[in-house]
Parts: sequence; structure tokens; C-alpha cells
Amino acid sequence: MPVRSVLRMGDPRLLQASARVTQFHTPELSALIRDMEDTMRAERGSGLAAVQIGVPLRVVLFGYGFNPRFPACDPVPMTVLINPQIEPIGTERESAWEGCLSVPGMRGLVPRHTHIVYRGLDAEGKTIQREASGYHARVVQHECDHLDGILYPSRIEERDQFGFVGELEAAGRLATGALPCDDTANTDSRRS
Ligand code: NI
Repeated sequence: MPVRSVLRMGDPRLLQASARVTQFHTPELSALIRDMEDTMRAERGSGLAAVQIGVPLRVVLFGYGFNPRFPACDPVPMTVLINPQIEPIGTERESAWEGCLSVPGMRGLVPRHTHIVYRGLDAEGKTIQREASGYHARVVQHECDHLDGILYPSRIEERDQFGFVGELEAAGRLATGALPCDDTANTDSRRS
């Protein structure tokens, strides 16, 4: 299946709000999800929103395996989430470094809710509801932001906590080589 090119920051299509999916079991939806899976795998991402491949529908995909560098991150199975909703649990937030396939080569320190409940539908139109914490919660919040046209740089609160990976590593902010892939955060988090 085709790997699609990922839109990059500056493309106005990334700033649009995506529309709800109203029809399930269609060949178009199946093809979209396959393309998203292939693209995310090819780009070694841990999450992708449909709008990043130019389809402004409320569909996100995320999932990642166990990474020995980040034993605190439980693996999350590959999940398709359609028309998602997020509800924070409590008020705790934490900051961690994020990247995005639409902002290649860069990282920024982004505060997110530490604990959330998310709900949505799977590709068959069945309900998904999960509680998530830490990195899992972060990925879901990052991907759902894409559906409202929000890219992580606009969530950064401290302007010196954003830059290119090489420069941040040279400055001792990011551990060298410690980032598993793009569109992810590492777990070098701090409470905020
Ligand atoms: Ni992203």
C-alpha cells in the first residue's frame, strides 16, 4: 500500500480542523487507515493523524512497542481512534520533549495532562474507552491536537525549550541518541 508524504509545518492544511467521520465500513475509510499505518511505519512514528497525510478527517493512529531505553513506557498496541474525545483525570500536568513528523528534526518541551480518559470509535465503529497516563496519554493528546489544527510548537511555554535535535543535544538538553523516533517524546520529563 502506498506510503503517503507527510505534510510539514507551514502547510495551511495542517491548521484546519478535521471533520467527524460519519460513515464506517467504507472502502475509503479502510484505504485511509491502511495508508496511515504504512506511512507511520515507514516514518518510524508512534502516532499519526489523517490530516498529516492531507485527509482532514478525525482519525488518529498510534502505537509503539517496548523500548528498552524507556522501560517506564508500557507498550501500546496499534490503535485506530476515530472521532476521539479526551477528558483529563485530575489537574496534574507534566512536561516532556516531543517531536512531530510534520516538524522534522526538531523537539520541544510540551506540558500535557498526565492522566486522561479517551474515547472514540475503532475502524469498525465500535467504542473504545481507555485510561492512559504518561507517554501513552501524551501521544493521544498530541495526535488529537492535530485534529484541531494544533501543532506542538504552539503548546511550548518556554521559548528556549524548542530547537533542532542536534543543537539541543549539543547543549546538553536532550540525551544523545535517546529519542526513539519522530512524532514522539522521550521520557525525560519533569513535573510542571
Ligand atoms: Ni505530530
